[in-house]
Amino acid sequence: MIVTGFNTNVINRRHGARRNPALPLSRVRSPHASLEWCVGNLTIRPFEPADIPAAALLLAERQKRDRKRLRMLSKALEDPSWWEGLFRRAHESPDGRQMDRAVAIRDGKLAGFLIGERMMLGPREFPSSFVPPQSISIDTSGHGVAKGEDATEVCRALYAFLSDHWVHDGFFVHRIDLTAGDRELQDAWVTLGFGSSTTAAVRGTGTVNYVRKPGVEVRRAGAGDIDVVMRLVDTLNRHHAQAPMFWPMLRATDDAVREFNLASVRDPQNPFFVAYDHGRAVALESFLRPGFTPLIVEEEKTVYLYDGVVDPGVRGSGIGSLLLDRAMAWARERGIERCALHFASGNPSGAPFWLGHGFVPVQYTMERRIDERIAWADH
Ligand SMILES: CC(C)(COP(=O)(O)OP(=O)(O)OC[C@H]1O[C@@H](n2cnc3c(N)ncnc32)[C@H](O)[C@@H]1OP(=O)(O)O)[C@@H](O)C(=O)NCCC(=O)NCCS
Repeated sequence: MIVTGFNTNVINRRHGARRNPALPLSRVRSPHASLEWCVGNLTIRPFEPADIPAAALLLAERQKRDRKRLRMLSKALEDPSWWEGLFRRAHESPDGRQMDRAVAIRDGKLAGFLIGERMMLGPREFPSSFVPPQSISIDTSGHGVAKGEDATEVCRALYAFLSDHWVHDGFFVHRIDLTAGDRELQDAWVTLGFGSSTTAAVRGTGTVNYVRKPGVEVRRAGAGDIDVVMRLVDTLNRHHAQAPMFWPMLRATDDAVREFNLASVRDPQNPFFVAYDHGRAVALESFLRPGFTPLIVEEEKTVYLYDGVVDPGVRGSGIGSLLLDRAMAWARERGIERCALHFASGNPSGAPFWLGHGFVPVQYTMERRIDERIAWADH
């Protein structure tokens, strides 16, 4: 049995059979999606279209609570009909995406829900440069807990129900997006073994203080500068491969990443700023519109900072701040009010730099890696 704590009270009601906790994982048929589990007085069952209005209401209320702390979050998402539209579109045209969905019901009411997507990207595809292979992704629209419910109890029951399928099917990496500052939800997922992998943060487009290094100038890159851009992207990847991040540098995605950067730099919407120190390219800050701004943040009037890197030899001499200031001026001229980005939560260089320059965390991607030995070890 892979989920401890559920051995005695998880009952397959619809089929009238108690799950046998003694069977080793490899011989347990994962419960079919149509089954129901009872955990205490919570019933866990698959998410149905009839659950959409209650789930949408729950997310709208959560956004309202979160927006009291984080004013840069989108007001439009305080309206349940915004979420209903999102759910209905996903139900009606799943686009080949493989989702697993569950709800927790207590006393006939929705206590919470969980929706995870099975990520099965090809190793050469662009998103494989940041999404782990064969992983589960639970985005911000994929989970919610009703007010007054014990978040840890509800999330644990829902996660047990779905992760039983995921682990059985060989999905050992699970990731979930949590809005920053929601202590209850954060505690619930930390209790389940999740830790922060990336942080999304937002700042206004106000000026940035810096001391100008003599001989440094900033130019906007074009398609002809793609080799310079890719050399600096490579420097950033090398940084992320080091302790304590240990993000693997994947050569398999090189072509796709280059294609993505080339297409982006060609689009006038996306400024790529390169700093030259006495004529030598030493730093890059590239921006995308819309980029990868988290769903919960108002996308309009937001620019996304995609890659930010300075050559190791000239770090700490003001070049990163100069580029940021230059980019914020560009954004202000266009009426753009916010800048969003992601950084590796454990990045000893990037994290303090962005936080020190006014970026406020809005979302954490929390990750759990299951011990693969569960697939073959004795029970
Ligand atoms: C993060 C990074 C882009 C910042 O660029 P940078 O040029 O090193 O940053 P700056 O020099 O502008 O600022 C760094 C610090 O030096 C200080 N500084 C700036 N000019 C200075 C000067 N002339 N003399 C002394 N200190 C100076 C800044 O105040 C800042 O300190 P603070 O953060 O305490 O305020 C760069 O260090 C880097 O490439 N790191 C590795 C890759 C990385 O982590 N990228 C981010 C990925 S999300």
